[in-house]
Amino acid sequence: MSNQSIAIQSVAVVGAGQMGAGIAQVAARGGLQVALCDQAESQAVQAVTKLKARLERQEAEGKVPPGTTVDVVGRIRTGGPLSGVADADLVIEAAPESLELKSALFRSLSALAKPSAILASNTSSLSITRLARETTRPELVIGMHFMNPVPVMKLVEVVRGTLTSDSTLQSVLALAEALGKQSIVSQDRPGFLVNRILIPLLNEACFALEEGVGSKEDIDAGARLGLGHPLGPLELADLIGLDTVLSIAEILHRDFGDSKYRPCALLRNLVQAGLLGRKTGRGFYVYDQNGKKS
Ligand SMILES: NC(=O)c1ccc[n+]([C@@H]2O[C@H](COP(=O)([O-])OP(=O)(O)OC[C@H]3O[C@@H](n4cnc5c(N)ncnc54)[C@H](O)[C@@H]3O)[C@@H](O)[C@H]2O)c1
Repeated sequence: MSNQSIAIQSVAVVGAGQMGAGIAQVAARGGLQVALCDQAESQAVQAVTKLKARLERQEAEGKVPPGTTVDVVGRIRTGGPLSGVADADLVIEAAPESLELKSALFRSLSALAKPSAILASNTSSLSITRLARETTRPELVIGMHFMNPVPVMKLVEVVRGTLTSDSTLQSVLALAEALGKQSIVSQDRPGFLVNRILIPLLNEACFALEEGVGSKEDIDAGARLGLGHPLGPLELADLIGLDTVLSIAEILHRDFGDSKYRPCALLRNLVQAGLLGRKTGRGFYVYDQNGKKS
């Protein structure tokens, strides 16, 4: 297998939610041409509008160099479903964490993207090998698991599927470095490395709350002040999105077949009630319009 990396100059990001918007920002900041598309085109447009406002504020405060907003926003094109995929050297899928949905997307990406294009998924837990099976180019399929918030967090967890080629791996590692990120490489196992560690922690915090061992504030303060975590587990679950946390917990439970991973009923109930955390304004905590805990 070739070890040579492919130079990536253009990226299509599929799904303009909190992760897709952040990935588009980081890629554009790194000088790549970016197509940001979403099932709902308005979502992609809104993501860029918010990004523009944020960068303008940071520019006015001297936190980023003058001209950054025009530069970054000027490199992002928005569009509807799969718009811009056909021209991209790399596609990064950041749609919701559902095997059915991502499988359908990978079938479409395989048909639409250039034959040489790498197809990456930002999945938190689904099997890259399984998604690769939906394509005719499994050697070009890989996991690029960015962390939230993408512009702030240094890590990209690169996930190697069973058939991912060395050159695909090297290309993605080189790109992550060019974007100012540090990579770790995980084999394709449920939850990979980061969520294998994180999700049981968040789920256990939900059990502790459900059992009344302590208040939500004390559970979070315990992790912040006692363990040095920047956010408590319930705050972090709200930031990630409780639907995403539940999906990953369900995958760990199902794929390892071990009851220690069973999702807490309280987490399930919050998701069923549509209280998904910051993105809906309420999860374990309530948030105002600016995302501040009230
Ligand atoms: N939230 C996190 O902290 C986090 C961290 C790392 C990885 N991830 C992973 O990133 C992915 C996206 O998570 P998110 O938090 O950004 O979700 P999100 O709900 O904020 O955004 C998902 C976006 O995908 C769009 N979408 C839905 N179906 C689509 C389709 N068929 N084609 C194109 N777009 C479609 C939705 O309109 C939405 O804008 C998931 O796989 C998740 O597991 C999330």
